[in-house]
Amino acid sequence: MKVLIAYYSRTGNSQRVGSLIKETLEELPDVVTQIESIVDLKDRSGVGGYAIGGRDAAMKKLTDINPPLNDASNFDVVIIGGPVWAWTVCPAIRTYCSDQGRKARKIAFFCTMGGSGDKRAFSEMERLCGKPPLSVLSLTDGMVKKDGSALKEILKEFSIKCLK
Ligand SMILES: Cc1cc2nc3c(=O)[nH]c(=O)nc-3n(C[C@H](O)[C@H](O)[C@H](O)COP(=O)(O)O)c2cc1C
Repeated sequence: MKVLIAYYSRTGNSQRVGSLIKETLEELPDVVTQIESIVDLKDRSGVGGYAIGGRDAAMKKLTDINPPLNDASNFDVVIIGGPVWAWTVCPAIRTYCSDQGRKARKIAFFCTMGGSGDKRAFSEMERLCGKPPLSVLSLTDGMVKKDGSALKEILKEFSIKCLK
């Protein structure tokens, strides 16, 4: 199974989850993984970046991203993840889903969040990709920062569902 993990991360939480999913998948037999960071070409740093990011997400805006390094259609499964912004999907993931997500054969999603908006983000991602995900996983910031067996168990369960 060839699995691509593509994530966008502004402050590192989704990057951490993406890397942990990669590690977890590689412990399973016959799985080859690639991980790719989705780069938003709009400056999202600082307080201004936060405010404009929230507004762009709420307005369902696409954004320019770096050309993807991997073609999603070359993988058995593409796992797409990023933060919830304004109770929906953030612009970089919106763009990625409508381009690469649409081309992917099978997809799964993860998101990180302060506490709410995951369901709306996932249903928007499903609509943009044009197909339902094999599995979804949402993690709060508190859960992401925790080390330990509980998170590992959650990631293992999610990873196994992504290979179905
Ligand atoms: C512009 C913006 C809007 C956000 N909106 C929400 C939200 O609606 N719901 C929520 O639970 N968290 C929200 N957050 C918090 C992030 O989803 C959360 O901190 C996430 O883990 C950040 O992931 P990252 O480190 O990969 O960027 C928002 C963060 C930003 C920057």
